[in-house]
Amino acid sequence: MLKRLRADIRAVKERDPAARSTVEVLLLYSGLHAIMLHRPAYFLYRHKWFFLARWISQFARFLTGIEIHPGAKIGTGVMIDHGSGIVIGETAEVGDGCTLYQGVTLGGTGKDRGKRHPTLGKNVMVGSGAKILGPFTVGDNAKIAAGAVVLEPIPPNSTAVGVPARVVRQNGQRVCAPLDQVHIPDPVSQELCMLKFRLEKMEKLVEEQQQLIQSLQALRTDTGTLPADDDGEWEKV
Ligand SMILES: CC(C)(COP(=O)(O)OP(=O)(O)OC[C@H]1O[C@@H](n2cnc3c(N)ncnc32)[C@H](O)[C@@H]1OP(=O)(O)O)[C@@H](O)C(=O)NCCC(=O)NCCS
Repeated sequence: MLKRLRADIRAVKERDPAARSTVEVLLLYSGLHAIMLHRPAYFLYRHKWFFLARWISQFARFLTGIEIHPGAKIGTGVMIDHGSGIVIGETAEVGDGCTLYQGVTLGGTGKDRGKRHPTLGKNVMVGSGAKILGPFTVGDNAKIAAGAVVLEPIPPNSTAVGVPARVVRQNGQRVCAPLDQVHIPDPVSQELCMLKFRLEKMEKLVEEQQQLIQSLQALRTDTGTLPADDDGEWEKV
């Protein structure tokens, strides 16, 4: 327990340039407090003391603004920076050495049962406001950009950005993603699609008008006069 606490404090000191001393980290870092309170809550949860476990978790949330479900697995040396607004679901797993910034959600999509929250590998960095939703894995050393919404597995050593998130870097190399018509709503292609639809409609109308003109011309040649406009067809012309 003490060993873990030391590792958690070391993680904050190493990763937050603003952290000056162990005492400061221990007393003033709400992310550390949330993790410290999560440890006994997780112990109780594992031993089926669900109510008490949940009570501690809610107390920690009240104190820190960080909600970690007591069933979530949190590794050693995890840093929660600034904290507030973080939600970590029941079946989520956070690997050793991960860093989470404020506003991160490790949640479910509402479609799955059982394991429904993500698993973060080791040393994953999740930027502020990022949402990782679903029961998939984010590989070791991955970086999730601030504001990203991740809905699919992310390979190790990669950087994912955007909504929905796509991998832009892997093993230090830039990744050129193929054009994905399903996941990227392209406003230009949507506009083109609408124009194509309107064009087809107009072409059909012109064709009808041409046919009408031709039949009228044929009638005129035959009789030398135009028939009465009973059905209003001439108006269209
Ligand atoms: C993603 C991040 C980790 C940088 O990772 P990286 O692997 O070094 O990637 P790069 O900086 O080379 O960026 C790769 C591409 O993603 C883009 N990108 C970076 N961050 C982005 C973001 N949050 N949203 C959208 N695109 C982003 C970059 O513009 C770049 O695009 P380009 O290749 O077209 O130039 C960093 O930008 C980030 O978001 N950090 C979060 C930090 C945070 O939350 N801090 C809170 C402190 S309180």
